Amino acid sequence: MPEMPGVTHIPYAYCYRCPYKMEYPSCDVYCAKIIEEQYLDHVIPPEEVAAVFLEPIQGEGGYIVPPKQWHKEIRKITEKYGILEVADEIQSGFGRTGKWWAIEQFDVVPDVMCMAKGIASGMPMSACVFNEKYDIKQPGAHATTFAGNLVTTAAALATIKMFEDEKVLANATKQGAYLLKRENEMKEKYECIGDVRGIGLMTAVEIVKDKKSKAIDMDTRNKIVMGCMKKGLLTLFCGVSSIRVIPALTVNQAQIDTACEIIESELKAVSK
Ligand SMILES: Cc1ncc(COP(=O)(O)O)c(C=O)c1O
Repeated sequence: MPEMPGVTHIPYAYCYRCPYKMEYPSCDVYCAKIIEEQYLDHVIPPEEVAAVFLEPIQGEGGYIVPPKQWHKEIRKITEKYGILEVADEIQSGFGRTGKWWAIEQFDVVPDVMCMAKGIASGMPMSACVFNEKYDIKQPGAHATTFAGNLVTTAAALATIKMFEDEKVLANATKQGAYLLKRENEMKEKYECIGDVRGIGLMTAVEIVKDKKSKAIDMDTRNKIVMGCMKKGLLTLFCGVSSIRVIPALTVNQAQIDTACEIIESELKAVSK
């Protein structure tokens, strides 16, 4: 991927396919420590770094759940050098993992959070939230044309109320654990599932040619996704070879069973 000027990309903690060919935990999160040891030391001096942006759990990149130690280590580095840490919670936030924010799953408090998607249950809205100490307290400093839209703000408030009234977070935790259990059972049975990962209702299965080689298998992944769609189950691609399974946060166990039966019928079809 071409670098955006002024932005340095650093590989994510994708333990199933470690970019440094190491293994967790013996790697001691080398992929986080390298930020200080290599990048800040040789590539870009800390005083020139405005912020570190990260997704608490990677979304489009493959639903990658990093070790808690990775997040802790990065927070240690950003705090040490006074670099802002920005958590992109657009996909992982608003209850998706069973907590309001995915970064909470790692016991880290960032300086800034970006949120959107689930925030207003589908109405177009986003928010950027930051620690008060970073506020520029000048009238107009945060003005934008579409800020403060009354209709979408009402939808966001209704979403928050529903989360509280219907115990949506607890449901995401409970049903997410059940979904992951079902996906792991399928992993045991089918050679083409290399990895199952997720927290709460943010889950994915990674499709491979076989478990030993871990070779990516986009064609099979695509066949499964399209096959599920024909049977009325919408899943989504992510990463190079993974399938997102991310039901509504109000999903119940019977609906998860139905979804898993459809996925399993497609796994059987591609395994013949
Ligand atoms: C993690 C993450 N950040 C940012 C975006 C972009 O969000 P938006 O479409 O609201 O601009 C997306 C969209 O998929 C996303 O998943």
